[in-house]
Amino acid sequence: MQQFNTVIIGMGRMGRTRYQEMTRHGGFNITGVCDNNLECIQDYSGNKYSDWKECIDNEQPEVVVVCTVNAVIPDIVCYALDKGCHVFSEKPPGRNLKDTLRMKEKYDKTNGLVLKFGFNHRYHNSIIEAKSLIDSGFLGDVVAARGVYGKAANLMRDEWRNNIDIAGGGILLDQGIHMLDLLRYFVGDFSEISGFTDNLVWKESAGEDTAFATMRTQDGKVATLHSSAIQWKHKFDLDIMLTDGYIALNGLLTSTKSYGEESITYYKKDLEIKSGKIGNPKEYTMCFDEDSSWELEIKEFYDALTGRGIVENGTIEDATQVMSLIDKVYKKNND
Ligand SMILES: NC(=O)c1ccc[n+]([C@@H]2O[C@H](COP(=O)([O-])OP(=O)(O)OC[C@H]3O[C@@H](n4cnc5c(N)ncnc54)[C@H](O)[C@@H]3O)[C@@H](O)[C@H]2O)c1
Repeated sequence: MQQFNTVIIGMGRMGRTRYQEMTRHGGFNITGVCDNNLECIQDYSGNKYSDWKECIDNEQPEVVVVCTVNAVIPDIVCYALDKGCHVFSEKPPGRNLKDTLRMKEKYDKTNGLVLKFGFNHRYHNSIIEAKSLIDSGFLGDVVAARGVYGKAANLMRDEWRNNIDIAGGGILLDQGIHMLDLLRYFVGDFSEISGFTDNLVWKESAGEDTAFATMRTQDGKVATLHSSAIQWKHKFDLDIMLTDGYIALNGLLTSTKSYGEESITYYKKDLEIKSGKIGNPKEYTMCFDEDSSWELEIKEFYDALTGRGIVENGTIEDATQVMSLIDKVYKKNND
């Protein structure tokens, strides 16, 4: 198996997850890890760095994996691309649209390099099933969708996510971005968006605890998003309405299992009432007990590196589109 010399920068929760997954995959030879908090890398073998530039300069890797806090992501991505490295970076693609466009400008000047952002939700089993069900045409065309993604968060806790200079935003940028990405994935590119963010409970927090948005595509498909840090429980619900039925995605399998069982339910429109009752129809449900999202995401990245595939999910285009939507919602708030 072809192996790519790789460094991982930022060895917190996501850095460790990527390290495990890339090691398990086998196509990555992780020669160095970097974290400015040396405690985070003390247990790793290989070369250790506290300075990411030194790490890239010394290791001269083929692949750089960026799992730092949001504020540092654009600098590392741009530097790595300049050095001719392929890059896998965590979401969000920077703190704001300006950051994303900086990376896009840099990437557009490269040739043959792979750049992928970690929108791992697209690889959850329920999402994969929903996509293939939609693409099959069995339920007709998507016309509308409604996404709710919520958690219980303490926005006053002393951590980088609650520091607006480092994080760039609140719950919309941190978690809602995944649901926005999925809404784009299922419904299409949105040409209109209106929405707002608010601090309904965490009044002192610089980052919002709530975001609502309504979007419409050029051809009239509509989607809504509710992103919440004050759901007080973990919740993932995505309803997709089609011309001949609906799909409901409930729960999301994560390591904590706190988002509930991951399932996809669908119903094929039957106005002759042969199956169930109108308004309470016969549905089909599939449940999943495995989260392969990290594995599938890294596989797609590796296949793009070897030329066996391309980056289909988490492209710089996806990153730019989703950040442009978020930018518009944040700007509307400041109008
Ligand atoms: N794909 C997903 O579903 C998902 C889930 C969680 C987090 N994330 C993203 O991953 C990134 C990291 O999040 P996390 O939960 O692992 O946070 P974390 O706090 O656990 O880890 C971040 C690490 O980066 C290190 N770091 C910060 N600045 C650095 C610098 N200048 N040089 C080197 N290391 C530096 C910190 O010391 C820390 O160990 C964030 O951008 C976050 O949005 C993505």
